[in-house]
Amino acid sequence: MEKTLWNKGTHEYKVNKFYSHGVENYGDFHGGYLNFGYWENGNEDYLKAAHTLIHKLGDMLKLNSQSHLLDVACGMGGQCVYVAENFEVGQITGFDLVFEHLKWAKWRRDKKDIKNIDFVQGTAVDMPFDEKTFSHILCVEGIVHFNTREKFFEECHRVLKDNGRVVFSDYAIKKRPKNKFEEFLLKTTTDLWNIPRDNFSTPDEYKKKLEEKGFKNVVVHCVGDNVIPGYCKEQARKECINELSKIRGLFAGRFGHIIDIVLDWTYKKGLCDYILVEADKN
Ligand SMILES: C[S@@+](CC[C@H](N)C(=O)[O-])C[C@H]1O[C@@H](n2cnc3c(N)ncnc32)[C@H](O)[C@@H]1O
Repeated sequence: MEKTLWNKGTHEYKVNKFYSHGVENYGDFHGGYLNFGYWENGNEDYLKAAHTLIHKLGDMLKLNSQSHLLDVACGMGGQCVYVAENFEVGQITGFDLVFEHLKWAKWRRDKKDIKNIDFVQGTAVDMPFDEKTFSHILCVEGIVHFNTREKFFEECHRVLKDNGRVVFSDYAIKKRPKNKFEEFLLKTTTDLWNIPRDNFSTPDEYKKKLEEKGFKNVVVHCVGDNVIPGYCKEQARKECINELSKIRGLFAGRFGHIIDIVLDWTYKKGLCDYILVEADKN
């Protein structure tokens, strides 16, 4: 796989830089997952929460042995391997912006000698795939970065076969900020995290956008209570902060922790939510 370099000044360049700090040191920390996890039944173990989230999304996809799944923003590949091992599926194509993420993803796949996963580098808003290639699309926590979410919905519609299905986990704003402090919180969280302004949507607006782009049976599940507090607690553990500082470097490791604190405040103020989304191509 040839490495694509993103041009300076583009949104992709900034996002690539954000995720590249120390990525070569990641190894098996958190199983290579960057997701927030789904925390239920008193579980306090990160890997279990990460798997619970992927399992819920896998169930929602309704895969079968003929399915060709496109896993957009597959990160370091843990979720591709988990789906291949726990669900009936024909082929999985993992797709991500960051070349170094895909190197880890291949390492994870090859360690388990899994044959039905391939990886492609690119940007989700201009995917190098023909029309009607995939039966299913999964995207875990990537969409918020895409410039823009709507362009990605169009791309999903283009590359999906007729009656194809999408399942996403993503973020939504719960309400518009009602004072300067709330505005500041929301702006700081999204700026630190490289989120384009166009991606601010409430769950209702989100549903409407998908419908406008040619999807039906759209359901947006708001599940923030099972996701955001558990993740913020995990990221605030001393061992986790130390490990991430070793991986990302002292500055980027601590900076990541600050983003989590601001996110926690934003959530507690009732400004943002975590959503699971399912829809079928019209
Ligand atoms: C929060 S991480 C989630 C990764 C993975 N889904 C997981 O949960 O472990 C967001 C991912 O989105 C990817 N990403 C961001 N912008 C992208 C774009 N425009 N196209 C494809 N992938 C992108 C990043 O490289 C990163 O792997």
